[in-house]
Amino acid sequence: MVQQNGVVDTPLVLGMMRLAEQKQLREPAVLADWIEKRLEQGLHWFDHADIYGDGRCESLFGAALAARPELRSQVRLIGKADIVKPQAEPAGRRVSRYDTSEAHLTAAVDGSLERLGVERLDLFLVHRPDPLMDPEATARTLERLIHSGKVAQIGVSNFLPEQWRLLQQALGARLCCNQFELSLRASQPLFNGTSEAMQRDGLQVLAWSPLAGGRLEEEQLGILLNEIAADVGCGAVGLAMSWLRRIPGQPVPVLGSLNEDRVADALAGARLEMSREDWFALLEAARGHRVP
Ligand SMILES: NC(=O)c1ccc[n+]([C@@H]2O[C@H](COP(=O)([O-])OP(=O)(O)OC[C@H]3O[C@@H](n4cnc5c(N)ncnc54)[C@H](OP(=O)(O)O)[C@@H]3O)[C@@H](O)[C@H]2O)c1
Repeated sequence: MVQQNGVVDTPLVLGMMRLAEQKQLREPAVLADWIEKRLEQGLHWFDHADIYGDGRCESLFGAALAARPELRSQVRLIGKADIVKPQAEPAGRRVSRYDTSEAHLTAAVDGSLERLGVERLDLFLVHRPDPLMDPEATARTLERLIHSGKVAQIGVSNFLPEQWRLLQQALGARLCCNQFELSLRASQPLFNGTSEAMQRDGLQVLAWSPLAGGRLEEEQLGILLNEIAADVGCGAVGLAMSWLRRIPGQPVPVLGSLNEDRVADALAGARLEMSREDWFALLEAARGHRVP
């Protein structure tokens, strides 16, 4: 069993962004069964955001917890906010934007808690860097959310080093993680210093779209993934998780698939150790050119 050092103490987080698209999981009792099975597998962390399905993903999850209240104390919930979609308001300019103001973040967390039917988020992330952020004001807001008990831990998502450092400088509490896109098809953070900056600053990495939204098994990469997977005794999904977990700091994949076979494969793979040779062979196949 791989050791976990970060706040998110699991080899795999389950992403809830696509929950509302899953017709078979709309019934609260059916979704409660699905959650219970994940808990039995040792998967406790569920990744939400106020914008997923315009709030419907949180509402569906909350309805399942209400149908089976004994699950509530077992799940660990991640919430995210600051993205404002234009259709969220009846009037005004119809423009997407980020809003890290106290009024917006506080209302967003309250909304998520209400839809999920819980009193606290285990981890709350600022969803995207906001170029208009007032770091002092946002830091104060995050600390108030912690002191009020609505949020246990805080972090960021999609932040670059100077963006999280500016916010951290204004904070008494520690930012514990950064959630950003990382996969065989999105490996740039491993080559531009971002990965090293997170290790240096002690930020746990949560890797979103670890299956590249379903594009992982295409082309040469798909062939090699399946070839190596057959050798090591897991599937292509599991091998992609193993590739991520081999990176220093052991990024935790935030899996978007709700398919039970893919979840099981992902979990098995997240616990496998990959050789350096296989790691670079997969990178080369994904990039389509030789490592220089
Ligand atoms: N912080 C951020 O800005 C941010 C942004 C995006 C996402 N996220 C988080 O990350 C989570 C994961 O994102 P994601 O859903 O894009 O991740 P993903 O795990 O890379 O992709 C999952 C999608 O790929 C499909 N898929 C996987 N393997 C496939 C295959 N072999 N053939 C066809 N389809 C395949 C899945 O379909 P099935 O369901 O049928 O398996 C599912 O629709 C989200 O739920 C969310 O929590 C965060």
